[in-house]
Amino acid sequence: MRLLNAMQTWECESFLQTNIILLISSLLLVSVVSSMPVSANSQISEVSGPYVTNTGQSSAFVNWISGEESSFKLFYDDELNYTKMAGYSKILEKPDYNPAACLYRAELSGLVPDTVYHYKITGEGFESGDCTFRTFPKSGGFSFVVIGDTHASGGTGDGNYIRSLLASEISGQEPLFVIFTGDMVSEGLDVSGWDEFFNEMSPVLRNSSVFTSPGNHEDNSTLYYDYFGYPEWYSFECGDSSFYSLDSNENACPLMDLQNDWIEESLPGNNNLKFVYFHHPPYSSDKRHPGGWKNIRDQWSGYFSRYSVDAVFSGHVHAYEHYFSDLTHYLITGTGGGNLYALSDEKPEGYLKSSPGVYGYLRIDVLDNGKTALCEFVPVILSEKTSEINQKPVNEYGDRFEINSCFENSLSRKMSDILGIFPGDIPQSPEKIRSY
Ligand SMILES: [Fe+2]
Repeated sequence: MRLLNAMQTWECESFLQTNIILLISSLLLVSVVSSMPVSANSQISEVSGPYVTNTGQSSAFVNWISGEESSFKLFYDDELNYTKMAGYSKILEKPDYNPAACLYRAELSGLVPDTVYHYKITGEGFESGDCTFRTFPKSGGFSFVVIGDTHASGGTGDGNYIRSLLASEISGQEPLFVIFTGDMVSEGLDVSGWDEFFNEMSPVLRNSSVFTSPGNHEDNSTLYYDYFGYPEWYSFECGDSSFYSLDSNENACPLMDLQNDWIEESLPGNNNLKFVYFHHPPYSSDKRHPGGWKNIRDQWSGYFSRYSVDAVFSGHVHAYEHYFSDLTHYLITGTGGGNLYALSDEKPEGYLKSSPGVYGYLRIDVLDNGKTALCEFVPVILSEKTSEINQKPVNEYGDRFEINSCFENSLSRKMSDILGIFPGDIPQSPEKIRSY
């Protein structure tokens, strides 16, 4: 009995001690948690993405961001198998994980060129549903989209709505890939802004591939480089065409010699079509920067001319503009959701078209011959009609034109170099700017 009482007393004391310890622990935990900065994880919705990067003929990266660590799995298969088996035969169980960015990345290799792949992500309590992307063709035709300045900074609060609408419109076009020319978000260091971007652009991001160049609003942040995995400047091939991403931001100035050496090394080549993209437009009638970014023009237009670049895509100015100088098309598509800019009536040399006051994107269809591309600026919504879903502006806001590889003209360029004629003196062939 005494023993029992002693045991009961000990149990009682032990019970009290345990509860006091638990109470103190809880109080300490609450105080520690409340004094901690808000972690990156808490700003991310369950899963952002998936989205596909670095796609080539036989490989691609599937990426997603999750605030919760989980044993994610990636299921995938080519379309033929997926349809036949009504599911996926391949599984990737251990994607790479970058804890600083809460980023998961799975590399798919050994893929077949020009083939649609189905994939889905599963985690604890999460399933992405079926998504698709297509590997790049060795040659022949393909379509891609260019869009810039999707940062939803609109004072009207419509930026997010516009971005979502554009995403669904672009998704309907089923482009092989989408090029973002920078300013995807308002603040490159703001995790929640990225979360919104990935979720609102999801209709297009999950069923296509993504290539990016940094804008000033990306703030040269490590998040930007982590999320997409592309360096400041890089190139890729698709079919017979070559693509080059450059960094036109201020932070890249000290590295300009390095970048120019890379351009000098990379741009020459015999590819049929060459496309370059970066954030700041060399030509523009933006009222705040009359003429455009002449420093960038001085730096790079000589390379574009010498190495037969067919088109240069930029953003930064929130409007559509089209210039044609020395056989190169200069296009601005900063029309992805940020407040639209007013343009001046005074246009720099080479002006062909502008569409202020309209949101939209550029669609490019490279034809099977690999030497011709049909380009169209697709106006989606007028700035004053943002509340009217799917209100298409009249066609006058659009722009349709054809690009023929200026590599074909390289001989005449070389001849002109030999004869001492300046590139601007070469007569511009009318078919280079023919509308279709
Ligand atoms: Fe912008």
